[in-house]
Amino acid sequence: MTVIRGYAELALPTKPGDDSLRRKITEIMKGSDRAQALVSQLLAFSRKQILKPSVLDLNQVVMEISDLLPRLIGEDIHIEVRPGQNLRRIMADPNQMQQILLNLAVNARDAMPAGGTLRFQTENATLPVTSKFETITEGVLLTVSDTGSGIPPELLARIFEPFFTTKERGKGTGLGLAMVYGTVSQSGGRIEVDSASGKGTTFKIYFPPTDELVSASPIENRVLPLKPAYGTILLVEDEPSLRELISDYLGIAGFTIITAANGVEGLAKAKSHKGPIHLVISDVIMPVMGGREMADRLKLSHPATPILFMSGYMDDAAVRRGVSEHRDHYLEKPFELNSLARKVSEVLNSDS
Ligand SMILES: Nc1ncnc2c1ncn2[C@@H]1O[C@H](COP(=O)(O)OP(=O)(O)OP(=O)(O)O)[C@@H](O)[C@H]1O
Ligand SMILES: [Mg+2]
Repeated sequence: MTVIRGYAELALPTKPGDDSLRRKITEIMKGSDRAQALVSQLLAFSRKQILKPSVLDLNQVVMEISDLLPRLIGEDIHIEVRPGQNLRRIMADPNQMQQILLNLAVNARDAMPAGGTLRFQTENATLPVTSKFETITEGVLLTVSDTGSGIPPELLARIFEPFFTTKERGKGTGLGLAMVYGTVSQSGGRIEVDSASGKGTTFKIYFPPTDELVSASPIENRVLPLKPAYGTILLVEDEPSLRELISDYLGIAGFTIITAANGVEGLAKAKSHKGPIHLVISDVIMPVMGGREMADRLKLSHPATPILFMSGYMDDAAVRRGVSEHRDHYLEKPFELNSLARKVSEVLNSDS
């Protein structure tokens, strides 16, 4: 990707007058930047993520998530939980299990802009006889259903494809359900979807049961803190999908998030915000005004606010020098959401 971008830059006409060629090459450069951001996210979600399967009580995972969900999906969506009795345990990574539930919940939220009901149900179940999946005949069934817009038949076959999205650019990456599908398959389970336009959507996920005793999930393997966090964070990032991901994530962790797409916007948001800002999280390289310059200016109006830089260019000596000069904190992209959470609490605790 760096190579594509590099050559595109070299091909940019130096003489004035060739605007159409310049426009086309600029599009290539933008496309490669977007692809880079997507790849970073993929890496953060897949390769870098260490699978730590443990014996899970699905009811407990669902309860924990549903307590946190109102902050993510808003007041207009009613959340219903129907936990199954004597539910058998499953073998899965608690972190990924939470991500599955979050992805399904965010999709349901997007499908119910005017509100509705999101339901989680768990039960011990036998698989339908018509099943093509022969290795398990009984399983723990998780049903997640919404009363949203539904999915028309011609799109239904494509929803698990990576990068398939019906959302506008910057809103969705189309990776949510691909991740869900991948994780469910990895755990030996299977997923079914039932939906039609105007009828809402139901996802059924079967997990193979285990008879091992439940193990306490290790703290460092949690995506979300158990207790909600407090404080206001100014998040400055030019890549919309990454900005939305981080803001959603920190939002459900309990923070109040103010977002901006570049340094200039960040300064304006900081100025118009009435209360305190406890932390600034900023990309380093952004159009209009980068994170470094913004940080310098913010220091004048908000001298006590710590800054956490995130950048994929930490190898770049110039970037590193600029950051360390100010003794600021940094996080290298791509990162796992877990590392972000750890870093945020580290910075907040060290500066207060
Ligand atoms: N509950 C749902 N109701 C209606 N449509 C849905 C639902 N869940 C998924 N879809 C459709 O499937 C598509 C793919 O979903 P997926 O979660 O993979 O990507 P996304 O939500 O578009 O983007 P991302 O999850 O990466 O932010 C969505 O764009 C949407 O059209
Ligand atoms: Mg999604």
